[in-house]
Amino acid sequence: MTEKKFNVAVAGATGAVGNQMISCLEERNFPINSIKLLASSRSVGRKIVYRGNSIAVEELKENSFKGIDIALFSAGGGISEKFAPLAAKDGCVVIDNSSAWRMDPDVPLVVPEVNPHAVAQYTNKGIIANPNCSTIQMVVALYPLHQKYGIKRIVVSTYQAVSGTGKKAVEELDSQTRAILNSKNYESKVYPHTIAFNCLPHIDVFLENGYTREETKMVYETQKILEDDTIGITATTVRVPVFYGHSESINIEAKKNISAQEVKSVLKKTPGVKVVDDPKNNVYPLAIDAAGQDLTLVGRIRDDESIENGINMWVVADNIRKGAATNAVQIAEILAKEYL
Ligand code: A2P
Repeated sequence: MTEKKFNVAVAGATGAVGNQMISCLEERNFPINSIKLLASSRSVGRKIVYRGNSIAVEELKENSFKGIDIALFSAGGGISEKFAPLAAKDGCVVIDNSSAWRMDPDVPLVVPEVNPHAVAQYTNKGIIANPNCSTIQMVVALYPLHQKYGIKRIVVSTYQAVSGTGKKAVEELDSQTRAILNSKNYESKVYPHTIAFNCLPHIDVFLENGYTREETKMVYETQKILEDDTIGITATTVRVPVFYGHSESINIEAKKNISAQEVKSVLKKTPGVKVVDDPKNNVYPLAIDAAGQDLTLVGRIRDDESIENGINMWVVADNIRKGAATNAVQIAEILAKEYL
């Protein structure tokens, strides 16, 4: 039987994540019949290479999705809110990387290593949401522990790369670093403060309760993906001057007896995870090593000696790949193989 091939569109094709989505489709040999690259009117005429062919970027419009089977969106929440339902109406399944649809009870929020079965709910609205980058790597590491030991509470602090904000933020860190090292003046346009040589405890907007929206996303998205709203979760999300790769300090309290030793052996067998944990030889997960690959690196696995059944760990992944583009393409693979 010949393999079924799909007409695919990427909305936000010129952005940090959109561009990576195109590379992931190519790298993973996704069965594509045709590919359409969409962005704003500013990018019309730009060319992007896919499988050796130079493809012209088109303007994203209301009728862009006619004849498209699967659309990967990463052009911001406002664009997703407006265009995802229009695309779905034209019979296309949208895999959306923005936060616009993640908490909609009719929209599945999927991490393929954790809840691939949720893809089936795509029929509700024709939309599948790709979770927040910080949430994805956390649940990949915690899911097998939740299954085996039952997680009662999670305390997480993140150290997030600027690429999560998009390509303008990558340029801002680059230009500010050069300016500071050369004693030149510079501006902060993307972030409210200097990001070079600094840490900003501020990702996305502040809410009434003093938390940021990013911190809130980690709470509710984790509960939705793990299908358990009894897990207590508290987060502090921090932007750091790193280009690619989010790092997370994660503390969990389990319901059952747990030990660092056992956690290591469970995680060594977990799909999508690589245990990198040999501190005596200075071996632990690093953003630089996580960047450019798809595994979630876990290390510094220790018993939390201040409570019973507590564990500390350090979790690092490429935020643009597993945290966004790769996860979206993995969802598309499930959709293509099992549902379309
Ligand atoms: P463009 O490059 O034409 O502005 P990033 O997250 O890296 O900042 O990228 C955002 C992506 O979303 C880019 O591809 C950008 O296209 C796209 N985008 C932003 N605004 C619009 C819009 N109004 N219509 C279509 N695409 C948009």
